[in-house]
Amino acid sequence: MENSKIIIAIDGHSSTGKSSFAKQVAARLGYVYVDTGAMYRAVTYYAFTNGFIDNKGKINEEGLKLTLPANKISFKIGPDGKSQTWLNNACVEKQIRTLNISNKVSKIAALPFVREFVDSILRKFGETKGVVMDGRDIGTAVFPNAELKIFMTASVEVRAQRRFKEIQEAGGKETFDDVLKNLKERDHLDQTREVSPLRKADDALLLDNSHMSIPEQFVWLNIILLERFGLQMK
Ligand code: DC
Repeated sequence: MENSKIIIAIDGHSSTGKSSFAKQVAARLGYVYVDTGAMYRAVTYYAFTNGFIDNKGKINEEGLKLTLPANKISFKIGPDGKSQTWLNNACVEKQIRTLNISNKVSKIAALPFVREFVDSILRKFGETKGVVMDGRDIGTAVFPNAELKIFMTASVEVRAQRRFKEIQEAGGKETFDDVLKNLKERDHLDQTREVSPLRKADDALLLDNSHMSIPEQFVWLNIILLERFGLQMK
């Protein structure tokens, strides 16, 4: 295993900082980063803008199932150097992060044919190794043989506070209570859905960052990468 490329699966609850962490780990290892939540968000955005899910959460499963395979979800690097999610020929990075989409995504992500669609894209990314992927079921369902699995969590209040701050900085209007409610609902839906529910894989390492700074999380990971895989982050 020394110095060969591995797959790092980072799963966990919403708003635990998974994507920021995964992104930085990938950059510092020279690995590819794949934001799997962005894919479910892009599918949800597609469903919403095409009338396959309404504001009451009612889904036209047949219509979505029939038309979804013709869509292409991809990632590109934007002018600011940051990764952008594209749906067909449009950048939807901003649109997929709204509370409207956050409120609908867990329902869409629970549909078996949606998971199959996203999984088939994800497995292609894994073929070459050297990948950091974050999501809810990467270590349990997508890459059960990933060499390193991390399960990130934090108390729901800490997570809501972090997300609320991000929304405020971006000029969003949602209240702290809206954010807390959305997180609790998503936790519940993600953990209780029938297909690939959110759960810690038995062999995943637990990272509870309720009281940890980002540098502390890197110190924690550095030791593991070096001891187990002979890998060093830049
Ligand atoms: O990580 P995120 O908050 O952007 O993910 C959005 C939603 O997508 C989340 O509520 C659950 C779902 N999801 C999933 O079911 N499986 C994944 N691998 C990633 C995300």
